[in-house]
Amino acid sequence: MKRHLRLGVNIDHVATIRNARGGRHPDPVRAARLAAQAGADGITAHLREDRRHITDDDIARLMAGIDLPLNLEMAATEEMLDIALRHRPHACCIVPERRQERTTEGGLDAAGLSDTLRPMVDRLAGAGIRVSLFIAPDTRQLDAAKALGAPVVELHTGSYADADGVERDHELERLRAAAAHAEAIGLECHAGHGLSFDNVAPVAAIPTVVELNIGHFLIGEAIFGGLDSTIRRMRSLMDLARSEAAGGMSA
Ligand code: PXP
Repeated sequence: MKRHLRLGVNIDHVATIRNARGGRHPDPVRAARLAAQAGADGITAHLREDRRHITDDDIARLMAGIDLPLNLEMAATEEMLDIALRHRPHACCIVPERRQERTTEGGLDAAGLSDTLRPMVDRLAGAGIRVSLFIAPDTRQLDAAKALGAPVVELHTGSYADADGVERDHELERLRAAAAHAEAIGLECHAGHGLSFDNVAPVAAIPTVVELNIGHFLIGEAIFGGLDSTIRRMRSLMDLARSEAAGGMSA
Protein backbone atom coordinates (compact mmCIF):
# COMPACT_ATOMS: atom_id res chain seq x y z
CA MET A 1 0.00 0.00 0.00
CA LYS A 2 1.34 3.44 -0.90
CA ARG A 3 0.99 6.12 1.76
CA HIS A 4 1.16 9.85 1.20
CA LEU A 5 4.55 11.17 2.19
CA ARG A 6 4.19 14.43 4.08
CA LEU A 7 6.66 17.26 3.76
CA GLY A 8 7.35 19.33 6.86
CA VAL A 9 9.20 22.52 5.98
CA ASN A 10 11.54 23.72 8.71
CA ILE A 11 11.68 27.51 8.63
CA ASP A 12 14.37 28.05 11.31
CA HIS A 13 16.89 29.53 8.94
CA VAL A 14 14.55 32.20 7.67
CA ALA A 15 14.77 33.43 11.26
CA THR A 16 18.56 32.97 11.22
CA ILE A 17 18.80 35.46 8.35
CA ARG A 18 16.35 37.84 9.99
CA ASN A 19 18.31 37.74 13.25
CA ALA A 20 21.56 38.60 11.43
CA ARG A 21 20.21 42.17 11.25
CA GLY A 22 17.43 42.22 13.82
CA GLY A 23 14.07 43.63 12.78
CA ARG A 24 11.34 41.58 11.10
CA HIS A 25 12.66 40.69 7.64
CA PRO A 26 12.62 37.98 6.38
CA ASP A 27 9.61 36.82 8.39
CA PRO A 28 9.39 33.05 9.11
CA VAL A 29 5.59 33.31 9.29
CA ARG A 30 5.49 34.65 5.74
CA ALA A 31 7.79 31.77 4.71
CA ALA A 32 5.43 29.30 6.40
CA ARG A 33 2.43 30.67 4.49
CA LEU A 34 4.35 30.45 1.24
CA ALA A 35 5.44 26.91 2.07
CA ALA A 36 1.78 25.96 2.51
CA GLN A 37 0.95 27.29 -0.96
CA ALA A 38 3.92 25.41 -2.43
CA GLY A 39 2.75 22.03 -1.11
CA ALA A 40 4.12 21.66 2.43
CA ASP A 41 1.96 19.52 4.71
CA GLY A 42 3.33 20.99 7.91
CA ILE A 43 5.67 23.60 9.34
CA THR A 44 8.51 22.71 11.67
CA ALA A 45 10.31 25.16 13.96
CA HIS A 46 12.96 24.53 16.60
CA LEU A 47 12.81 26.88 19.57
CA ARG A 48 16.36 26.49 20.84
CA GLU A 49 17.38 27.24 24.38
CA ASP A 50 19.64 30.08 23.15
CA ARG A 51 16.94 31.43 20.73
CA ARG A 52 19.52 31.65 17.99
CA HIS A 53 16.87 31.53 15.26
CA ILE A 54 13.19 30.99 16.14
CA THR A 55 11.97 33.13 19.04
CA ASP A 56 9.08 32.80 21.48
CA ASP A 57 7.25 35.50 19.53
CA ASP A 58 7.69 33.48 16.30
CA ILE A 59 6.03 30.48 17.94
CA ALA A 60 3.10 32.63 19.05
CA ARG A 61 2.75 34.16 15.58
CA LEU A 62 3.05 30.78 13.84
CA MET A 63 0.33 29.33 16.07
CA ALA A 64 -1.95 32.25 15.28
CA GLY A 65 -1.02 32.86 11.67
CA ILE A 66 -0.80 29.55 9.78
CA ASP A 67 -3.32 26.89 8.86
CA LEU A 68 -0.84 24.01 8.59
CA PRO A 69 -0.03 21.86 11.62
CA LEU A 70 2.99 23.14 13.57
CA ASN A 71 5.66 20.68 14.67
CA LEU A 72 7.61 22.28 17.52
CA GLU A 73 11.09 20.85 17.96
CA MET A 74 12.28 21.19 21.53
CA ALA A 75 14.82 20.03 24.05
CA ALA A 76 13.61 17.96 27.00
CA THR A 77 13.60 20.85 29.50
CA GLU A 78 10.95 22.20 31.86
CA GLU A 79 11.11 25.58 30.11
CA MET A 80 10.29 24.05 26.72
CA LEU A 81 7.62 21.81 28.22
CA ASP A 82 5.87 24.90 29.66
CA ILE A 83 6.02 26.68 26.31
CA ALA A 84 4.67 23.64 24.47
CA LEU A 85 1.81 23.21 26.95
CA ARG A 86 0.95 26.90 26.66
CA HIS A 87 0.77 26.88 22.84
CA ARG A 88 -0.36 23.32 22.24
CA PRO A 89 1.06 22.84 18.74
CA HIS A 90 -0.12 19.87 16.70
CA ALA A 91 3.14 18.02 17.40
CA CYS A 92 6.30 18.24 19.47
CA CYS A 93 9.49 16.54 18.43
CA ILE A 94 11.87 16.13 21.36
CA VAL A 95 15.47 16.56 20.26
CA PRO A 96 18.82 16.51 22.03
CA GLU A 97 20.32 19.97 22.31
CA ARG A 98 23.76 21.19 23.15
CA ARG A 99 24.59 24.88 23.23
CA GLN A 100 27.83 24.64 21.29
CA GLU A 101 26.49 22.54 18.41
CA ARG A 102 25.76 24.12 15.03
CA THR A 103 22.74 21.92 14.47
CA THR A 104 21.13 18.88 16.09
CA GLU A 105 24.12 16.60 15.82
CA GLY A 106 22.87 13.28 17.06
CA GLY A 107 19.74 11.44 18.06
CA LEU A 108 18.13 11.47 21.47
CA ASP A 109 19.21 8.73 23.87
CA ALA A 110 15.66 7.54 24.44
CA ALA A 111 16.95 4.44 26.16
CA GLY A 112 19.30 6.25 28.57
CA LEU A 113 17.07 9.22 29.35
CA SER A 114 13.84 7.43 30.04
CA ASP A 115 13.39 8.94 33.51
CA THR A 116 13.51 12.47 32.07
CA LEU A 117 11.54 11.69 28.94
CA ARG A 118 8.67 9.64 30.35
CA PRO A 119 6.95 12.45 32.30
CA MET A 120 7.48 14.77 29.35
CA VAL A 121 5.94 12.41 26.84
CA ASP A 122 3.04 11.83 29.26
CA ARG A 123 2.35 15.52 29.82
CA LEU A 124 2.59 16.47 26.15
CA ALA A 125 0.41 13.55 25.10
CA GLY A 126 -2.02 14.38 27.91
CA ALA A 127 -2.41 17.84 26.38
CA GLY A 128 -3.36 16.28 23.04
CA ILE A 129 0.03 16.96 21.42
CA ARG A 130 1.45 14.29 19.11
CA VAL A 131 4.87 13.47 20.54
CA SER A 132 7.79 12.36 18.50
CA LEU A 133 11.34 11.48 19.53
CA PHE A 134 14.28 12.32 17.25
CA ILE A 135 16.48 9.23 17.39
CA ALA A 136 19.22 7.43 15.49
CA PRO A 137 18.03 4.58 13.23
CA ASP A 138 18.73 2.04 15.92
CA THR A 139 16.48 -0.78 17.12
CA ARG A 140 17.32 -0.16 20.78
CA GLN A 141 16.27 3.49 20.53
CA LEU A 142 13.06 2.56 18.68
CA ASP A 143 12.15 0.03 21.34
CA ALA A 144 12.88 2.61 24.04
CA ALA A 145 10.66 5.19 22.28
CA LYS A 146 7.87 2.64 22.15
CA ALA A 147 8.31 1.81 25.84
CA LEU A 148 8.09 5.53 26.66
CA GLY A 149 4.70 5.70 24.94
CA ALA A 150 5.71 8.08 22.14
CA PRO A 151 3.48 7.43 19.11
CA VAL A 152 6.01 8.80 16.60
CA VAL A 153 9.76 8.64 15.99
CA GLU A 154 11.80 10.79 13.65
CA LEU A 155 14.87 9.01 12.32
CA HIS A 156 18.02 11.16 12.15
CA THR A 157 19.19 11.05 8.52
CA GLY A 158 22.36 13.09 9.17
CA SER A 159 24.78 10.12 9.00
CA TYR A 160 23.19 9.04 5.71
CA ALA A 161 23.36 12.58 4.30
CA ASP A 162 27.02 13.00 5.30
CA ALA A 163 28.18 9.65 3.91
CA ASP A 164 29.32 8.69 0.40
CA GLY A 165 29.48 5.48 -1.63
CA VAL A 166 29.35 2.20 0.25
CA GLU A 167 29.06 4.01 3.54
CA ARG A 168 25.94 5.81 2.31
CA ASP A 169 24.44 2.47 1.17
CA HIS A 170 25.08 1.14 4.64
CA GLU A 171 23.42 4.17 6.29
CA LEU A 172 20.44 3.85 3.95
CA GLU A 173 20.11 0.21 4.93
CA ARG A 174 20.06 1.24 8.60
CA LEU A 175 17.25 3.72 7.85
CA ARG A 176 15.28 1.09 5.94
CA ALA A 177 15.64 -1.47 8.72
CA ALA A 178 14.71 1.07 11.39
CA ALA A 179 11.65 2.25 9.45
CA ALA A 180 10.51 -1.36 9.04
CA HIS A 181 11.03 -2.00 12.76
CA ALA A 182 9.08 1.16 13.62
CA GLU A 183 6.12 -0.14 11.62
CA ALA A 184 6.43 -3.59 13.18
CA ILE A 185 6.21 -2.21 16.72
CA GLY A 186 3.44 0.28 15.88
CA LEU A 187 5.35 3.58 15.71
CA GLU A 188 4.68 6.24 13.08
CA CYS A 189 7.97 6.93 11.35
CA HIS A 190 9.31 10.32 10.21
CA ALA A 191 12.81 11.18 9.01
CA GLY A 192 14.95 14.24 8.52
CA HIS A 193 18.22 16.13 8.73
CA GLY A 194 20.58 17.01 5.91
CA LEU A 195 18.15 16.07 3.14
CA SER A 196 18.55 17.78 -0.25
CA PHE A 197 17.51 17.40 -3.90
CA ASP A 198 20.46 15.02 -4.36
CA ASN A 199 19.83 12.62 -1.51
CA VAL A 200 16.10 12.75 -0.74
CA ALA A 201 14.83 10.10 -3.18
CA PRO A 202 16.11 6.91 -1.47
CA VAL A 203 14.69 8.07 1.86
CA ALA A 204 11.39 9.13 0.29
CA ALA A 205 11.16 5.67 -1.27
CA ILE A 206 11.10 3.90 2.11
CA PRO A 207 7.42 2.92 2.26
CA THR A 208 6.94 3.08 6.02
CA VAL A 209 8.29 6.62 6.35
CA VAL A 210 5.30 8.99 6.35
CA GLU A 211 6.92 12.41 6.87
CA LEU A 212 10.17 14.15 5.98
CA ASN A 213 11.25 17.31 7.78
CA ILE A 214 13.58 19.45 5.71
CA GLY A 215 14.98 22.89 6.46
CA HIS A 216 18.52 24.04 5.84
CA PHE A 217 18.76 22.92 2.22
CA LEU A 218 15.36 24.37 1.27
CA ILE A 219 16.04 27.78 2.77
CA GLY A 220 19.57 27.90 1.34
CA GLU A 221 18.48 26.79 -2.12
CA ALA A 222 15.63 29.30 -2.06
CA ILE A 223 18.28 32.04 -2.35
CA PHE A 224 18.89 30.80 -5.90
CA GLY A 225 15.54 29.40 -6.99
CA GLY A 226 12.97 31.09 -4.77
CA LEU A 227 11.16 29.39 -1.89
CA ASP A 228 8.06 28.46 -3.89
CA SER A 229 9.83 26.62 -6.70
CA THR A 230 12.40 25.05 -4.33
CA ILE A 231 9.65 23.53 -2.17
CA ARG A 232 7.66 22.44 -5.25
CA ARG A 233 10.73 20.68 -6.66
CA MET A 234 11.40 18.90 -3.36
CA ARG A 235 7.74 17.86 -3.19
CA SER A 236 7.86 16.44 -6.71
CA LEU A 237 11.16 14.57 -6.11
CA MET A 238 9.61 13.01 -3.01
CA ASP A 239 6.40 12.09 -4.84
CA LEU A 240 8.30 10.64 -7.80
CA ALA A 241 10.54 8.50 -5.59
CA ARG A 242 7.50 7.26 -3.68
CA SER A 243 5.54 6.44 -6.77
CA GLU A 244 8.46 4.67 -8.47
CA ALA A 245 9.07 2.62 -5.33
CA ALA A 246 5.41 1.61 -5.35
CA GLY A 247 5.70 0.32 -8.92
CA GLY A 248 5.13 3.48 -10.92
CA MET A 249 1.51 3.97 -9.94
CA SER A 250 0.47 7.61 -9.81
CA ALA A 251 -0.11 9.26 -6.43
N1 PXP B 1 14.37 17.10 11.99
C1 PXP B 1 14.89 17.48 13.17
C2 PXP B 1 14.39 16.82 14.41
C3 PXP B 1 15.83 18.53 13.26
O1 PXP B 1 16.33 18.90 14.45
C4 PXP B 1 16.22 19.17 12.07
C5 PXP B 1 17.19 20.31 12.13
O2 PXP B 1 16.66 21.35 12.90
C6 PXP B 1 15.65 18.76 10.86
C7 PXP B 1 14.75 17.69 10.85
C8 PXP B 1 15.94 19.41 9.56
O3 PXP B 1 17.30 19.27 9.22
P1 PXP B 1 17.87 20.14 8.05
O4 PXP B 1 17.77 21.58 8.45
O5 PXP B 1 19.28 19.65 7.90
O6 PXP B 1 17.03 19.86 6.82
